[in-house]
Amino acid sequence: MTTSRIALVTGATQGLGLALAEGLARRLTARDVVYLTGRDSGRAAEAAKSLSGAEVRGELLDVADPEAATRFAERLRDRHGGVDIVFGNAVMRVGPEDDPREIIDPYTQVNNFGTTRLLRAFAPLVRDNGRLIVVASSLGTLHQLAPVLHRRFDDLSTLDQVDKQVVAWRDAVADGSARSGAWPGFVNIPSKIAQVAAVRALASQRRESDLARGILLAAVCPGMINTPTSAKWWDVSTAPSPAEAAVALLDLVFAPVNPEHYGQLVRYGQIVPSK
Ligand SMILES: NC(=O)c1ccc[n+]([C@@H]2O[C@H](COP(=O)([O-])OP(=O)(O)OC[C@H]3O[C@@H](n4cnc5c(N)ncnc54)[C@H](OP(=O)(O)O)[C@@H]3O)[C@@H](O)[C@H]2O)c1
Repeated sequence: MTTSRIALVTGATQGLGLALAEGLARRLTARDVVYLTGRDSGRAAEAAKSLSGAEVRGELLDVADPEAATRFAERLRDRHGGVDIVFGNAVMRVGPEDDPREIIDPYTQVNNFGTTRLLRAFAPLVRDNGRLIVVASSLGTLHQLAPVLHRRFDDLSTLDQVDKQVVAWRDAVADGSARSGAWPGFVNIPSKIAQVAAVRALASQRRESDLARGILLAAVCPGMINTPTSAKWWDVSTAPSPAEAAVALLDLVFAPVNPEHYGQLVRYGQIVPSK
């Protein structure tokens, strides 16, 4: 008997996350389960109703809640014994009108601590041939950052070290000192760099055993997408739709693992150099 496959997407009530859940449901079978999760249980349940293929369950997973990922992972372990596919996709929407000092705390809670908590909670549950994918961005490469800051995120080997660097950056933004230092004003850049650093740090610990078990841990860049989040910053009217952008990410999940992708930032199937 084949075991059902279990997939999870965070931030799946709209945008790329919804497209990933939709694509997973379509490419998996009716015996499989996709958890379409979001910060609002009603909207997650509503979004799940429109999807077909695999069984889609809309459930609450507010990644800003410090306990949520652990609780959710425990539930999945009790219900299914493990998980096969995890997409950490959630992002807090901010725009040019937002004062970084005002938003940096919740922003890092969702995008960064939410990511490291997800990795800690779910990495131990991933079954053989599983996928643990963080949706990052090409902005997550060190050449986006002033050289004097590179050492902060280069070659970190634990998620705690990554969190420590995010705390230092968050506090510098909050007290205004980041503005007079070398930090970029666009908070998305250090945030995505830290997400990629988190994947690299965890990968440095798990590479050998994950690859022996057919597991892929990677960060991905979906490219520019036409969503309200990117529309706050750029003209994305001609950019790919979330469904179009999801294809390359879903291909990473359903194609055999390319060991070169392990622990890397991958865009359209190609490795994005780290610096
Ligand atoms: N759009 C682009 O051009 C682009 C480019 C490169 C990378 N990316 C990355 O792709 C990912 C998706 O981006 P997107 O443009 O699709 O964003 P989006 O349309 O704004 O969707 C973001 C999702 O995250 C959810 N979310 C927000 N806070 C959350 C929380 N605390 N817990 C759980 N979910 C939460 C939102 O829920 P609500 O529905 O409740 O708001 C929404 O479902 C992000 O990681 C983004 O950085 C996007």
